[in-house]
Amino acid sequence: MGKILLILFCILISNLSLSSAQSCESYAFSRNTNYATCASLPVLNSHLHWNYNPTNSTVDLAFRHTGTGTSQWVAWALNVDGRGMRGAQTLVAVPNPNGTFRAYTTSITSYQPDMQPSRLSFEVPTIMAEIVNGDVVIYATLVLPSGRTSFNQVWQVGSMNNGALAAHAFVADNLNSVNTVDFSNGVTTAGGSVGGSRQRRRNTHGVLNAVSWGVLMPMGAMAARYLKVFKAANPAWFYIHVATQTSAYGVGVAGWATGIKLGSDSSGIQYDTHRNIGIILFAFATLQVFALLLRPKPDNKYRFYWNIYHHSLGYSIIILSIINVYEGLDILDPEKKWKNAYTGILISLGVITVIAEALTWFIVLKRKKEDKRTHAGTNGTNGHA
Ligand SMILES: *[C@@H]1O[C@H](CO)[C@@H](O)[C@H](O)[C@H]1NC(C)=O
Ligand SMILES: *[C@@H]1O[C@H](CO)[C@@H](O)[C@H](O)[C@H]1NC(C)=O
Repeated sequence: MGKILLILFCILISNLSLSSAQSCESYAFSRNTNYATCASLPVLNSHLHWNYNPTNSTVDLAFRHTGTGTSQWVAWALNVDGRGMRGAQTLVAVPNPNGTFRAYTTSITSYQPDMQPSRLSFEVPTIMAEIVNGDVVIYATLVLPSGRTSFNQVWQVGSMNNGALAAHAFVADNLNSVNTVDFSNGVTTAGGSVGGSRQRRRNTHGVLNAVSWGVLMPMGAMAARYLKVFKAANPAWFYIHVATQTSAYGVGVAGWATGIKLGSDSSGIQYDTHRNIGIILFAFATLQVFALLLRPKPDNKYRFYWNIYHHSLGYSIIILSIINVYEGLDILDPEKKWKNAYTGILISLGVITVIAEALTWFIVLKRKKEDKRTHAGTNGTNGHA
């Protein structure tokens, strides 16, 4: 009985592995080329098919990306001396306006490459690309460098922007598209994520800053403006305002520091606008904290000017913070729901602001009217007297 089960199990396993091998190896190429080896890559719906010729150390390969849009570029690369994007010796397929694809080589030397055709560190005697039923295939012959057969490989897909290649997305699949390939034995091994810990740091930076600069600081300003009008909330509004803004500042500085560290670690990619706004924000917010220490007494003649200064700096910080959260979201390019969530929070704060503003005006005007009436009443009494 056990033996029969074992045999059934073996048949099942061999069928499973056969069918998964077939989905890669039985693919019929339009050029009728047969490739001896095939590896389905772990992410981004990609497959690598090749023939290895040990006599002249060449590889004829076909890199296939399934489900490519007609406005997407596709790339595959060997990184001979390093890992990941920097140093990638890249074959790239780019859509033409008429829907066909052209292919060329480009050597990537930075994280902000121009993706213009350039020579690789090894010979590529032939390269071409085509799109067949939504599969983009790059065909190429590589002369493998220095007798090696095992390399780090990296592959990628991204969208086009007015005929130019736009940066790829920064979601998990696009960051995990690295592993190694050995052309002599067909083994591909997982290379893990190039940017796993870096991505975690980027996300931490994003959450800290969106919460502190992007949400807490506007709420602190609202507390000051709209609680002040209620007599019962005096002086509580002041302490709420100070507590909110100082904790926002504390968290914000931590988030800011992670951002500065990320910026100095990213060799190549420069997010200048985001970085510059960040530095201005840090300077403004620090000024704002110290301004509190220099605040003149309410009856001081300079208090009026201090108030103007405090308000204009405060509102500038809020506006710049919101702009920079969106700048950051564009760089981080997380799932759409995060941007929507932040927009939702802003809309809620906006609605509360409108209602609170109306209420404040109502209360202030009513109070004024009452004051006038009491005043008139007093005058009347005086008149009688
Ligand atoms: C390498 O060798 C193979 C098989 O011998 C041959 O078909 C191929 O044309 C050669 N390639 C180059 C670039 O010399
Ligand atoms: C499509 O456009 C490319 C260049 O833009 C050209 O080389 C190619 O011949 C065109 N193909 C067809 C089928 O029109």
